[in-house]
Amino acid sequence: MHLRTENGSLFASGGQAWRGRKPGAMNRYCLNDRRKPKHMTSIAIVGLGYVGLPLSLQFARSGVKVLGLDIDPSKIEAIHSGRTYIKHIDSSAIAEAVKAGQFSASADFARVKEVEAVIICVPTPLNKNREPDISYITATGAAIAPHLHQGILVVLESTTYPGTTDEDLLGVLEKGSKLKAGVDFHLAFSPEREDPGNPASKVAKIPKVVGGLTPACAKKACELYGKAIEQIVPVSSCRVAEATKLLENIFRSVNIALVNELKVLYAAMGIDVWEVIHAAKTKPFGFMPFYPGPGLGGHCIPIDPFYLTWKAREYGQNTRFIELAGEVNSSMPSYVVQRVMEALNDLQKSLKGSKILLVGLAYKADVDDMRESPTFILLDQLKARGAEVAYHDPHVPIIGPTREHMAWAGFKSVPWNKETISGFDAALISTAHKAVNYAELAAWAPLIIDTRNAMVQVSAKPSQVWKA
Ligand SMILES: NC(=O)c1ccc[n+]([C@@H]2O[C@H](COP(=O)([O-])OP(=O)(O)OC[C@H]3O[C@@H](n4cnc5c(N)ncnc54)[C@H](O)[C@@H]3O)[C@@H](O)[C@H]2O)c1
Repeated sequence: MHLRTENGSLFASGGQAWRGRKPGAMNRYCLNDRRKPKHMTSIAIVGLGYVGLPLSLQFARSGVKVLGLDIDPSKIEAIHSGRTYIKHIDSSAIAEAVKAGQFSASADFARVKEVEAVIICVPTPLNKNREPDISYITATGAAIAPHLHQGILVVLESTTYPGTTDEDLLGVLEKGSKLKAGVDFHLAFSPEREDPGNPASKVAKIPKVVGGLTPACAKKACELYGKAIEQIVPVSSCRVAEATKLLENIFRSVNIALVNELKVLYAAMGIDVWEVIHAAKTKPFGFMPFYPGPGLGGHCIPIDPFYLTWKAREYGQNTRFIELAGEVNSSMPSYVVQRVMEALNDLQKSLKGSKILLVGLAYKADVDDMRESPTFILLDQLKARGAEVAYHDPHVPIIGPTREHMAWAGFKSVPWNKETISGFDAALISTAHKAVNYAELAAWAPLIIDTRNAMVQVSAKPSQVWKA
């Protein structure tokens, strides 16, 4: 018996349970079928970060025993003490899973021997030349390969270019295990979809795209995710699943670039782009709102599109949309700095020697994740022009070590009180956290440059707020 996916390709199924089912039937099988497979009761998740930790907890909650593997001893220690290290994940959720014996953590990769599946959620950054760095994936592959056994499933979740799973990871796993992918062990790719800071976003509710090396690999991976996730979306290959994730992130990058470009143009025409977007989004079809900002941030949108750009070269292809979007988005910090200079100039002040407070260091509202935050670029650019800079972020009390902005490590968020905030010549809102009191900001700061429309509901003095 076979299942046909949306694009017409075929999945072999295990037996009668599949007969006559339509595309998507695999989802219902994974979710509801009372004959849910008894196997897949113990898994390992490698990389216990923003993706791996919530995924571990969701599997643990669903009755799967999870062994978290990480090279960072502080995370392993935190998990065993029932302590969170990610703001939007409660310590109690970790403590409960550990106490129930459903979740443990280790740095001993040999323990892969004990589990039926391994899910890999390690970082995929760009290197200094802005090329994909898949070394974390290949290092993980090399670490687990000697411990793979017959029938085990390996799933990659890290965002990457098409071909990583069935070329790069496959090669490392086969070499280190002396086993054959698709024959001795199963291999699949399933991209993570996370919306950090959105309390409505729950791992179990987000449909999971799954592509396998072979139909049997796909089936095995669907069975696994069906234990913890409500809707599974099978696709015909690892490459389609990898390409799906890139499409999703490129879509965001390109649309954000579009509104950033319109922001600059409309500002020159005396039109507020925020008002335009709010009006446009009342259209009940064919429009989806995206919002401008001071530049792209986070582990995904500024990075992932360039994974495809790099891979496209192998095929003699260009990715013009991706590169144009990158150009527009990465010019935003300079535009914002220009607006800061104009606003100060209006008060007969120069940027050089002015004290500027950056409000918001995390890359998006209501999270503590500062990776790739454009606030770092704003801090760098303002400082390079002679400004005295500081930041306030209720979620980032101190800047920890980062791959690219080590110069700011150890800087502390300034306290939020009238005396401190009124001592700055200008406040620049780069991230609109809900935990910041914007009415107090209006009362205390002489000048505010707002890149997030955070001041829209707050009454301010004439010429006090400049949009950027
Ligand atoms: N953060 C998000 O919102 C998000 C959303 C979708 C997809 N992703 C993708 O998921 C992947 C992971 O992202 P993240 O945000 O969870 O990263 P992260 O940096 O928060 O976590 C990665 C974890 O992997 C560990 N690690 C690094 N190398 C390792 C190795 N060799 N062996 C074991 N552990 C290792 C690190 O110590 C860390 O705990 C990336 O590919 C990212 O693009 C992230």
